[in-house]
Amino acid sequence: MICNNIGINEKGHITFAGQDVCDLAQKYGTPLYLMDEDKIRENCRTYKAAMDACFASALPVYASKAACFKRMYEIIAEEGFGIDVVSVGEIYTAMKAGMSLENAYFHSNNKTDFDIEFAIENGVGYFVVDNEEELYAIERINDGNAQKQKVLLRLTPGIDTHTYEAVNTGKVDSKFGSAIETGQAEEITRLALGMQNIALAGFHCHIGSQVFDSDTFLRGSEIMLSFAAQMKQKYGYEMQELSLGGGYGVRYTEADPEIDIAANIRQVSECVKADCAKLGLQEPKLIMEPGRSIVADAGMTLYSVGTIKQIPGYKNYVSIDGGMTDNPRYALYGSEYTLFVANKAKEAADFTADVVGRCCESDDIIQPEVRLPKPVRGDIIAVCTTGAYNYSMASNYNRVARPPVVMLCGGKSYQAVKRESLDDLIANDL
Ligand code: LLP
Repeated sequence: MICNNIGINEKGHITFAGQDVCDLAQKYGTPLYLMDEDKIRENCRTYKAAMDACFASALPVYASKAACFKRMYEIIAEEGFGIDVVSVGEIYTAMKAGMSLENAYFHSNNKTDFDIEFAIENGVGYFVVDNEEELYAIERINDGNAQKQKVLLRLTPGIDTHTYEAVNTGKVDSKFGSAIETGQAEEITRLALGMQNIALAGFHCHIGSQVFDSDTFLRGSEIMLSFAAQMKQKYGYEMQELSLGGGYGVRYTEADPEIDIAANIRQVSECVKADCAKLGLQEPKLIMEPGRSIVADAGMTLYSVGTIKQIPGYKNYVSIDGGMTDNPRYALYGSEYTLFVANKAKEAADFTADVVGRCCESDDIIQPEVRLPKPVRGDIIAVCTTGAYNYSMASNYNRVARPPVVMLCGGKSYQAVKRESLDDLIANDL
């Protein structure tokens, strides 16, 4: 199995976090997002323990864009993480979950004045400043406040991660951050240091997502530290915090490698320590911002099978009661997934079909050419590793209601997000 929280029981049903998913489908209906709370906590603890052991000062920060709802923030806060937020919507959700914003890092390449005011008023600890214009806006909006606003500057170290283009952000021509190569990173540092209402806490980079090559992070830290050393030399500025962003990959299929997060963090720490010593820098507080590797393998989506269409000589389609509205990742990125017919997990996978959704859109595909036991109407399809960027990227296209999120914990289940109703769909229509 791609993850140790997936199994098959004596009935030949798929289990997730030790629970029969067919029973869960029956209890809560489909489509249904399941989240294994114990796995989320285990993933958090892997990061926390490794970072605490490796660095004198460190903070794991959850990139909440991966899965954002109130219960997630509660869990994350309990596990001692900070949060990466990218919108007032995420900030508001965290606040409503009772989370302190002291360790909130506010991203986005285009923060409006409203966003900036909202974040400052509500005590967001850090802005991760993308560009000069944003820096000027924070300086202006924070004027008159007793406290300087702490910021990290987001820099692009110019690394190409060889993952798919859409999630590759560390390159010089990225829409995110200020590039080191072009001199813009130095310019924004110089500007920040001269501002009255801003306290420069350090630098940030995020190189990409679904990254398996550990060298990427070592290269990233090397480039960032060498930049920090130049800033120290030129401006006498000593970086306090260094964020290396998120990005560690997860297993969507058996072909994906397994990443040893703790070993990777050890490697990064050795690299950071050696570079700091070599460059005469104080060891900064080290921040990592995982999203996917915290929640992806904690998720599974269940669907009911509807129409099965066989086009002789061409192909077969298995239609399910969800689709790109709850999981747009194949349509957007061609992402691979592992699927099961959950109530036929021990039967031979001798039928090939595209598993498709029910939207009016030919690209509404969950996964093409899947080998499955031939399903019939009413069977349950389980799609694995859907905890990251599925619920958070879901839409109401075709006015399809979003599924609920059900948490699994210690053999029990509870709803964290309820199913949208038809009335929810028209709630804002005047
Ligand atoms: N930090 C920053 C600044 C980010 O932009 C991201 C992700 C993360 C941390 C977390 O990266 P992770 O650990 O999750 O790889 N929707 C795409 C992924 C977009 C990632 C955006 N940024 C997908 O479904 O694959």
